[in-house]
Amino acid sequence: MSTYHPVTPEIIAELEQIVGRRYVIHGDSEQLEPYSHDEITEKKYHHLPDVVVRPRTTTEIAAIMKLANRELIPVTPRGGGSGLSGGAVPVMGGIVLATDRMNSIIELDTDNMLIVVEPGVITNDIDALVAEHGLFFAGYPMSLQSCFIGGNVAENAGGGKAVKYGVTGQYILGVEMVTPEGEIVKLGGKLVKDVTGYDLTKLIIGSEGTLGIFTKVIIKLLPRPTEVVDLLVLFPDPETAIGMVSTIMTEARVIPTAIEFMDRLSAHASCEYLNERLPYEKAGAMLLIQLDGNRKAQLEEEYEAIGELCLEHGAIEVYVADNYTTQERIWSVRRNIAEAFMVVSPHQSLEDITVPVANIPKMIPELERLAKKYDIQVPCYGHAGDGNLHATPVKNPNHSLEQWEEMLPQILADLYAATRDLDGVISGEHGIGHKRKNYMSYSVSDASLELMKRIKRAFDPNNVLNPGKIFDV
Ligand code: LAC
Ligand code: ZN
Repeated sequence: MSTYHPVTPEIIAELEQIVGRRYVIHGDSEQLEPYSHDEITEKKYHHLPDVVVRPRTTTEIAAIMKLANRELIPVTPRGGGSGLSGGAVPVMGGIVLATDRMNSIIELDTDNMLIVVEPGVITNDIDALVAEHGLFFAGYPMSLQSCFIGGNVAENAGGGKAVKYGVTGQYILGVEMVTPEGEIVKLGGKLVKDVTGYDLTKLIIGSEGTLGIFTKVIIKLLPRPTEVVDLLVLFPDPETAIGMVSTIMTEARVIPTAIEFMDRLSAHASCEYLNERLPYEKAGAMLLIQLDGNRKAQLEEEYEAIGELCLEHGAIEVYVADNYTTQERIWSVRRNIAEAFMVVSPHQSLEDITVPVANIPKMIPELERLAKKYDIQVPCYGHAGDGNLHATPVKNPNHSLEQWEEMLPQILADLYAATRDLDGVISGEHGIGHKRKNYMSYSVSDASLELMKRIKRAFDPNNVLNPGKIFDV
């Protein structure tokens, strides 16, 4: 492991020279605190930086990385801070490099159906802008109103529309990036096809800020569907709800935009948090199914077929939401579940397991088994349509904090082993960060892990960029 050097007053002065004095934060723990964590509430995952820099340009970022290599100081890049695996947490101290000032739209190229943006643009703002031109950005992480596109690329964010549209990485045609050693490189471009050498763009997507800092992102857009309909389907229990996922796709012969799952605890927590009302009391679980397209009549046929299929397979009731206000109310409940649980209990572990879609019904009894075995609640919600569930073991109020802390690694090992046995992985969209790095062996063989480490060493020989994440080198 590298031995890093402290951030001295001389280094602070040099950073101030690079980005300007007002964009360097240091010496005041209250001002540094917001940069010590992401959305994970557990304090053991937090760590204060020594200094925060907020650069405005690519050349400033390159200069910071050169300095970091020369002085051996860790640099942790940060987007919107909405992460859930500690990726933006400076676990080794040193510099946090905040990208919030890199927030320009550089070019909307409607002829090529793409947009070029800086990493600090809020994800939802991209879609709102391109909507005015009849275009569509399909990335839909649940934090889209606060997360940055740079963070989405770093984590290869998934979210609510992956069933039909896939994850963020599928829309990233290229980036400009500062390498860990401070070189400025362009990867990919405005191209549909490109096999000119290794596909480094794909490699850096999802690399969790360990292989480079993006300074420009080229995003492919789609024509915007004109019609959107949501179905909220109530089921008596989670098994029946989750059991519908494959059936919808194989028997209704439609790939919905989204098939989201919420169990009763999840819907209840979010409704309480938002002071919203959904008819969750009637149900043990719900599916939120979205369809989109350009022809109203076709969409009607499709949602009626899905609704009927659900009723045939044990659904209690099907509600149709075909206007923006109602749709937004329902989606807001779905999007706010994670935050609601964090308010209810800071002692919890928001998980992100993913299994092949056909295997998710088998995950539900596993979660029930865990809940019984450890005498805890394991509420569950997530992106059922793509096999990605946010099972969330929560501390039992009757257990002491020590009991919980001792128990949690066992619960996670148990959960990850069950996931592995169903051909799944320990994270589908939140990433490994420092939260899950000790569990990599549940998903990745020793030989694959060694290859990953060699790639990291090739990019970052001094291990200064986001050290302590994904694995230790
Ligand atoms: C969600 C976040 C936690 O799906 O990924 O709500
Ligand atoms: Zn999610």
